[in-house]
Amino acid sequence: MHVLGVDVGTGGTRALILDEKGGIAGAATEEHEPFASPEIGWAEQRPEDWWRACGAAVGKALADAGLDGGDIACVGFSGQMHGAVMLDDADAVVRPALIWCDVRTEKQCRDLTEKVGAQRLIQLTCNPALPNFTLTKLLWVREHEPENWRRVRSVMLPKDYVRFRMTGERAIDVADASGTLLLDVARRAWSGGMLDASGIDAALLPALYESPEVCGRVSEAGAKETGLKAGTPVVAGAGDQAAGATGMGIVAPGAVSATIGTSGVVFAATDRPALDAQGRLHTFCHALPGRWHVMGVTQAAGLSLRWFRDQFGTGGGADASRDPYDLLAGEAAATPPGADGLLWAPYLMGERTPHLDPNARGAWVGLTASHTRGHLIRAILEGIAFSLKDTLTLFAEMGLPVTSIRLGGGGARSALWRQIQADVYGQEVETVATEEGAGYGAALLAGVGARLWRSVDEACGAVVRTKERIAPRLEVAERMQGRYAAYRRLYPAIKSVG
Ligand code: XUL
Repeated sequence: MHVLGVDVGTGGTRALILDEKGGIAGAATEEHEPFASPEIGWAEQRPEDWWRACGAAVGKALADAGLDGGDIACVGFSGQMHGAVMLDDADAVVRPALIWCDVRTEKQCRDLTEKVGAQRLIQLTCNPALPNFTLTKLLWVREHEPENWRRVRSVMLPKDYVRFRMTGERAIDVADASGTLLLDVARRAWSGGMLDASGIDAALLPALYESPEVCGRVSEAGAKETGLKAGTPVVAGAGDQAAGATGMGIVAPGAVSATIGTSGVVFAATDRPALDAQGRLHTFCHALPGRWHVMGVTQAAGLSLRWFRDQFGTGGGADASRDPYDLLAGEAAATPPGADGLLWAPYLMGERTPHLDPNARGAWVGLTASHTRGHLIRAILEGIAFSLKDTLTLFAEMGLPVTSIRLGGGGARSALWRQIQADVYGQEVETVATEEGAGYGAALLAGVGARLWRSVDEACGAVVRTKERIAPRLEVAERMQGRYAAYRRLYPAIKSVG
């Protein structure tokens, strides 16, 4: 038996086929058109392009596995969160989707917070109004494009649009729905209070499911464009963070992941909707019924390093056949922990956790003529780790247990960055044997839908394995504790400069 996970990311859609032991039988990624940013802070993509990419990726993954559609027992989805896809009465896309990193809605957030009240917002949804969240994007369209808004008959998130094209069903899971600001996260149901307060018609929203529940079947049209077999069941799936955590076995209290992609996320599974009173962490439903999670988000984690690479290159005499990030890490490794006093504030795209400030700004602080490119790069790697540690600090304040920290994304692939994270967190970190991101979690959810495993816990227990453990070096960890205290003073200092 085989199952398929489809991750509708920002850069591309990845299709991943698992065998019944959780091994990878085939995989393919199809790139998306890059997002358009017609104004600063805007980010838009065409949903039709995600569906095109899904068809291509699934077809290639089937070919890679040497299977045909009839061999796939169930399909699961994950995807970029928070985006707003709007369809008209003929189910055509009304305007390009405003995606997760679009932050044009500061005013709508302010208005909503004033109208509902900051405390009541948290009571209703477990979260404050942030520009990333879907509802604020709908309010922007209603305010600025009334002619478009009048045509909207249904609203969905990115992966749910792709599922809609595959099955004809309007469905969403509670994990992804948590990032809309329209879900009563504690009760795992749409929030009547938020719908009333924002004047959004409940009829616009898709039906809600738990992540491993079957919510539709591949249609004839969906089969034609993907190579899957009509009638194949499809489970609800989850937003990319909950799905990625599931794929790393972060499903029970105490388990924590630190994943560095474009953004950086520290994620903890909980058995109740745990709240930070100031809303600095997101409190969302997890991909397991009866479980929740909290997470802190660094907006520009991997993006900081990519920015450095794009602006300053990979160094003179670099070997073009080598991965540019390996070359950068090589330069950083030649400098000592602490980068001889240099610090990096990673606020290139404002910041979510812990500052909730879309206007925060980045900086290197402490430069001297003795510093080299390697120091600049090491400071970036350390600065990102300090920023993720801010979330661990909030977990400690909330009394959340952290028994293990599993690394994911680019931060897990570099030996230097793994060690930096162990030293900065002051705690052992580990990697998992199959580091395949959100698509892997989506495929495990499909496996539960296909009854390959009885529950998500059982699926994780059966397939997720620890690969390597990295201990902090005591003397270095102590030094990094001092540097972290200095790092914490950067944000208010930079803010005071204006
Ligand atoms: C999570 C978030 C990002 C996107 C990126 O809150 O905004 O992880 O889901 O895909």
